[in-house]
Amino acid sequence: MKKPINIAIDGPAGAGKSTIARQLANRLGILYLDTGAMYRAVGLKALRTNTDMRSEPDLERMLNQTVLDIQFGPNGQQVILDGVDVTDAIRSSDVSRAASDVSAIPAVRHRLVEMQRCIAEQRDLVLDGRDIGTYVLPDAPFKFFLTADVKERARRRLNDLQARGETNLSLSDVIDEVSYRDQQDSSRSMAPLKQAEDAILIDTTGLTIEEVIGRVLAQLRPQQL
Ligand code: DC
Repeated sequence: MKKPINIAIDGPAGAGKSTIARQLANRLGILYLDTGAMYRAVGLKALRTNTDMRSEPDLERMLNQTVLDIQFGPNGQQVILDGVDVTDAIRSSDVSRAASDVSAIPAVRHRLVEMQRCIAEQRDLVLDGRDIGTYVLPDAPFKFFLTADVKERARRRLNDLQARGETNLSLSDVIDEVSYRDQQDSSRSMAPLKQAEDAILIDTTGLTIEEVIGRVLAQLRPQQL
């Protein structure tokens, strides 16, 4: 069987990864795996079960009683946590922080990375996250690192959150959330947020989605697709 083509898109919160990854996958006719959604599901479970997010043994115990399933349906990826669809529930601002907290714990990362590699082994995929190019799939043939000015990233996150009905947040609340996650995601010891040496850097500040997609597509060598 031909080796699947994996396209890694990493970067901080709000850099435009998920929008770009989803549209890119649609254009290429392949699936999109949002790995952040997996950390979000674990964060949601920790919130709901009052698990100490700094305690590795407590999180491991929780994970042993958790069934996480990723499904690909006509509307994209669905996240099923203990038999319940939490695709929408994992998008809140509280869950964002919780996801960042639990993602710093090696036992959580080991489980989720194993699932991600297993999914990527079986099919062509665009994956977005923080450590896809550096740790999950270091041999991926295409790697991009998207970034943008923190204010612009917070503005995009705020728009997303407001569209989902979280209308009680100000721009400065979201700047705090994004900065908290930037700091924590890049300073954790295991697989921190970092540009892979062979990733192509795209600063999306001031660029339209179409412009970013154009830059990504220009780098994909057709003979390798
Ligand atoms: O991409 P996102 O904002 O949905 O991710 C939520 C959190 O999950 C993020 O703050 C850090 C963590 N994460 C990670 O550590 N590694 C990934 N590959 C994806 C997300």
